[in-house]
Amino acid sequence: MLKVLVLGATSPIARGLAMRFATDGARLYLAARDPHEARRIADDLEVRAGTPALAGAFDAEDFSSHEDFLRNAVGELGGLDGVIVCFGAHAEEERAQVEPHVAVAEIAQNFTGAVSLITLVGRHMEAQGTGFIIVIGSVAGERGRARNYVYGSSKGALQLFTQGLRGRLAKTAVHVMTVKLGTVDTRMTWGREGVLLSISPERAADMIYRAYRRKSEVVYVPRRWRFIMGGVRLIPERQFKHLSF
Ligand SMILES: NC(=O)c1ccc[n+]([C@@H]2O[C@H](COP(=O)([O-])OP(=O)(O)OC[C@H]3O[C@@H](n4cnc5c(N)ncnc54)[C@H](OP(=O)(O)O)[C@@H]3O)[C@@H](O)[C@H]2O)c1
Repeated sequence: MLKVLVLGATSPIARGLAMRFATDGARLYLAARDPHEARRIADDLEVRAGTPALAGAFDAEDFSSHEDFLRNAVGELGGLDGVIVCFGAHAEEERAQVEPHVAVAEIAQNFTGAVSLITLVGRHMEAQGTGFIIVIGSVAGERGRARNYVYGSSKGALQLFTQGLRGRLAKTAVHVMTVKLGTVDTRMTWGREGVLLSISPERAADMIYRAYRRKSEVVYVPRRWRFIMGGVRLIPERQFKHLSF
């Protein structure tokens, strides 16, 4: 039975992915900042998928707790075959662009926290020689835009980090997948202006799960973002800086 840790379990995308893994018989550990909410989601999953699910708390910004958290999660699961990194924040872009502590907190949530946890997971996976790590990135990480560059830079850095890790683990059977996610209809995008081509979290989870099953390494979800971002990358910087999208 596949043992899978989900980081950021209250995200509807994470819930959709957890459901797909559970339906295929995986044993899950759902981790979120609020342990009661994580337990509630695990209970719901147990009823709907018919497989037991564990739940626990973690905070991406509490770096010093990560080693103990992971050791406990692996202990409770009885091993670790895969990790889904699905936490992130994009709440206060306007403030983050002018207030350093807000910017630094967002980078800690999206990037530094992920680096800390993925490094520990990478070490575990490297030692066992097998496993998978799915990292939910964003198309916002492809190019710095005036509208969202604090969030975008955290995701861009995460994508580079994941790419390097994939290279380091290339000699093992560890599958490291970067998801370059387009807009998804979740609380992260709720009420935000200029949200285009949004898809449901269930649809996103379906596409991510299928990409994992075919062992994709870098995947745009949905696929159309690959072509959109290909075009976006071609715009010369001199013009790009004036665009407001
Ligand atoms: N929605 C989109 O359009 C979109 C597009 C591209 C990429 N993404 C990425 O998809 C992932 C899921 O986002 P979502 O759209 O499903 O939004 P969401 O519902 O807001 O989920 C974000 C998740 O991150 C968790 N989180 C935030 N800060 C945390 C911290 N310090 N420690 C632990 N967990 C923390 C949240 O936990 P709490 O419940 O405790 O707040 C929540 O589970 C994120 O990585 C996001 O960047 C989303």
